[in-house]
Amino acid sequence: MGNKIVLLGAKGMLGSEVRSLYGEENIKAFDLPEFDIADLAQLKNAVDKADVVINCAAYTDVEKAESQYDLAYKVNAEAVENLAKIAADKNFYVIHISTDFVFDGNKDSFYDETDIPRPINAYGRSKFEGELLLMENHQNCGIIRVQWTYGKNGNNFISKLISLSKQRDSLKVVDDQFGSPTWTQEAAKVIHIFAENRHCGLFHYSAAGFASRYEVAKFVFEKMHLKTEIIPCKTDEFKSAAARPANSRFCCHKIQPLLDKPIEMWQKPLERFLETIRQ
Ligand SMILES: NC(=O)c1ccc[n+]([C@@H]2O[C@H](COP(=O)([O-])OP(=O)(O)OC[C@H]3O[C@@H](n4cnc5c(N)ncnc54)[C@H](OP(=O)(O)O)[C@@H]3O)[C@@H](O)[C@H]2O)c1
Repeated sequence: MGNKIVLLGAKGMLGSEVRSLYGEENIKAFDLPEFDIADLAQLKNAVDKADVVINCAAYTDVEKAESQYDLAYKVNAEAVENLAKIAADKNFYVIHISTDFVFDGNKDSFYDETDIPRPINAYGRSKFEGELLLMENHQNCGIIRVQWTYGKNGNNFISKLISLSKQRDSLKVVDDQFGSPTWTQEAAKVIHIFAENRHCGLFHYSAAGFASRYEVAKFVFEKMHLKTEIIPCKTDEFKSAAARPANSRFCCHKIQPLLDKPIEMWQKPLERFLETIRQ
């Protein structure tokens, strides 16, 4: 591997999968607390001499972003603009990760890359600003939007379900939010393909098919033989600072031809993931 690959956000749920896919010796990894992407000097230093920069760093606390928009903007937009300007100057390739939260979720079919974003909350706004600032300042980049990701090193819907099942006899899960649970291990392989081939542009990536969160919970509890009862409910029964999109479904027709295999239905990778945490 001749290229110098720099990974930002290396300890996060997705970043840690990218790091283990490459192997520690093949990648230069950065994250809080030693590295702050919002610190321009630290950022310049981290990406100096990079051939490829993979940006998995992000302010991801969707609830807190409503009251901490300035910080969310600094990390998700301003720092991405800085990264873009450095990349344009040094001419390295950037892979940047974005989100379904750039959409309001009101479309009644799959979102593709031509759909106009209308962010549903503060986190989504900060991420959309980041996309715009990156594309405006640097075209040698691939932006991959992902949705409903889960993995071993993160707080996510699947891990929350499993930990709550140990504390409760019954659990209410919304049946009016739809998406496709997507394993970070699969997303990391997509990032690797992009880094190798330097694909440019905006892309949607998720597992194939879709389900409601309630259906996903039923699937997980059945596979894990968990006895907790799951009760379907509606999004408006939960009080939250940030709105959540009802529809997070992605059309992946643009990215599929760039990949080395057909994107699997969500159930298959999820079963493999559950196998890894069953012990
Ligand atoms: N999780 C999802 O369902 C989901 C869905 C759609 C898109 N995404 C996108 O996927 C990408 C990866 O997110 P993830 O799921 O892996 O979330 P994550 O686990 O929260 O990872 C983000 C990483 O960035 C780090 N970070 C935060 N602020 C930073 C800063 N100022 N400087 C340097 N690093 C900083 C975090 O450190 P701390 O943990 O210490 O804050 C964390 O290690 C993000 O772009 C996110 O927007 C995620």
